[in-house]
Amino acid sequence: MHIARTIEDLRDRLGAFRHPAFVPTMGNLHDGHLDLVQQARPLGDVTVASIFVNRLQFLPHEDFDTYPRTWDSDCDKLRAAGCDLLFAPDEKALYPEPQACKVHPDPALGDILEGHFRPGFFVGVCTVVMKLFSCVQPRVAMFGKKDYQQLMVIRHMVRQFALPIEVVGVETRRAAGGLALSSRNGYLSDAERAEAVELSKALQAMAEAVRTGERDFSAIETRAIASLQERGWQPDYMTLRRRADLQAAAPGEPLVALAAARLGATRLIDNLEIDT
Ligand code: PAF
Repeated sequence: MHIARTIEDLRDRLGAFRHPAFVPTMGNLHDGHLDLVQQARPLGDVTVASIFVNRLQFLPHEDFDTYPRTWDSDCDKLRAAGCDLLFAPDEKALYPEPQACKVHPDPALGDILEGHFRPGFFVGVCTVVMKLFSCVQPRVAMFGKKDYQQLMVIRHMVRQFALPIEVVGVETRRAAGGLALSSRNGYLSDAERAEAVELSKALQAMAEAVRTGERDFSAIETRAIASLQERGWQPDYMTLRRRADLQAAAPGEPLVALAAARLGATRLIDNLEIDT
């Protein structure tokens, strides 16, 4: 696996390839990321990953400085997963001057849920993903369904800018008990980690309520929020949305349940597509 630290070196290495399959990450890789790499491999003529902790998508009070950086083990994991080329620029290499040109996603999608609780988050995500796309020029790009709204925002951006990139959504990898793998799980104490499975259980309960015919979505959401609050969580949202655009759902439409909640100092997100 070659490691490119600059855009120039990346472009040199990509020269002969016509069909890069790309996995953008912020590092601290877990098995969910490696699923993305493994699923990318048969889709391109070269498999490219990036590691870049993108300051633009962190709010001032968030964990940019403490975000886990695990360079050596990330490289080992990527090599073992069959990644051919790792793009790992530092901030000066990716943003040599302040990134004044930014990509603002459709507010109808980008300002709700995560975008509401983390204002500017999707501007930061879209801006860096557009820049990474411009550097790598992938034909296929892999994103985890764990960040469901992010996947939808990126798909919409790719469609609106007519980028010649197929965006592939990859299923969430879960630990035993159902906890979705996430780099931020590393912030949890042992006791919190044991409790964290309750987030996916609350989503399962929401899905089960829909599947068994309950049609008062607002009551289902209120119950999910209360069940977590009783256990000491601080939920930002537990909501049933239309899968197509994450707007308010009506019975009969394909649905997704989305959750964001704080457990102690750690904010976790998760979601579940509901088959009715
Ligand atoms: O999902 C992530 O890890 C990040 O948001 C991404 C897509 C790599 C952009 O920084």
